[in-house]
Amino acid sequence: MTTAASTSNSFFDSLESAPPDSILGLNESFKNDPNPDKINLTVGVYQDESGVTPIFECIKLAEKQLVDTESSKSYLPINGSPEFGLAVQKLLFGTDDQGTDHEIVRSKRAVTAQSPGGTGALRIAGDFLQKKFPNSRVWLSAPTWANHPAIFAAAGLETKNYSYLNSDKTGLDFDAMKASLDETRPGDVLLLHGCCHNPTGVDLSADQWQELAAIIRQRQLLPLIDCAYQGFNAGIEEDAVGISTLCNAGLEVMICSSFSKNLGLYGERVGAMTLVADSEKSAKAALSHIKSCIRVNYSNPPKHGAALATAVLSDDGLRDVWFKELAGVRARIKQVRSQFVQEMNRRCESDFSFIENQNGMFSFSGLTPLQVDQLRNEYSIYIVGVGRINVAGINSNNIERLCDCIAKVMA
Ligand SMILES: Cc1ncc(COP(=O)(O)O)c(C=O)c1O
Repeated sequence: MTTAASTSNSFFDSLESAPPDSILGLNESFKNDPNPDKINLTVGVYQDESGVTPIFECIKLAEKQLVDTESSKSYLPINGSPEFGLAVQKLLFGTDDQGTDHEIVRSKRAVTAQSPGGTGALRIAGDFLQKKFPNSRVWLSAPTWANHPAIFAAAGLETKNYSYLNSDKTGLDFDAMKASLDETRPGDVLLLHGCCHNPTGVDLSADQWQELAAIIRQRQLLPLIDCAYQGFNAGIEEDAVGISTLCNAGLEVMICSSFSKNLGLYGERVGAMTLVADSEKSAKAALSHIKSCIRVNYSNPPKHGAALATAVLSDDGLRDVWFKELAGVRARIKQVRSQFVQEMNRRCESDFSFIENQNGMFSFSGLTPLQVDQLRNEYSIYIVGVGRINVAGINSNNIERLCDCIAKVMA
């Protein structure tokens, strides 16, 4: 452990630098690379055909409205704006055929805490679980988003891994996943990606969610769903199939939402932690503990981005604009995936068709760490070491060169 130097006045002279974040560090190297043809497929932001991460039109419109209507910048409550919380619940749980709110919303057995991004939501979940259920272990898919193990470790929880991918890393091995869950203990937490699994793009089918619901009940696990890409695969309602399956099976659930990607609000830090309990009474008690975790962390969440999200989620006109924009994002992602497969199939023997079966922005490309290094060092093509690519970084200007170079390192 580092102690204050007794012979000098400096506390910090003896500090070594911490290792850079694996993904953000690569992004720094990309920025410093002078090659004009460099390609960045590392970071987790959506990019349009011109390589720009756009501000959604619905957000621009909401922002104009907010300028005229906002009357104060005073603090929000500890768990954020109640209007935002309700809008998030309606988005997650949907309505029935008559347009009536889901039973979970009507019975008030869900509570929502607005959070600084999806990361903030996960950390609140971790802090709450550690405080009230310190012996729970958090089960993460192998692989998972690189920040998951670190967030739960920082909250003081033990993490374990469950199997996820098949042997060639192109699809799900559901039997292996279920076999890993035999090792869980009652009270353990099972983290699941709601859709568009990061880093693999490999999701569970509706039937598999159903089967999982029975396993969760039988083994007495608490599902924690990370919902960072709702609307990026098939649609807002379709992408919530895992959430609705577990909730309709009568399970208690925790859900961490991010609005960084689906509303493009990255830097505004908009997220939410929603907890579904068996009753309104237990939901309220849980919220009181969640609020004490927040109070000693950042006290209360940032206001502006959540106000924009609330406007879009609760105004029919703005929501229509948003749905159209999201449909455009989905169409572009699917088009890039199929174009990439066609281009690669033209250039090499290996079959890349699995890329078309994966969902959202990320895919496991099957590239080895050696090939990833070669792409970066020789061709200024930046891909995360495990071979994860952000397909939204591919566009008509760079796809030819990208595929040529991948074919070269695979030869
Ligand atoms: C799976 C997953 N969860 C959570 C997050 C965090 O999102 P945010 O940027 O809103 O903190 C991300 C962001 O990349 C993610 O991929």
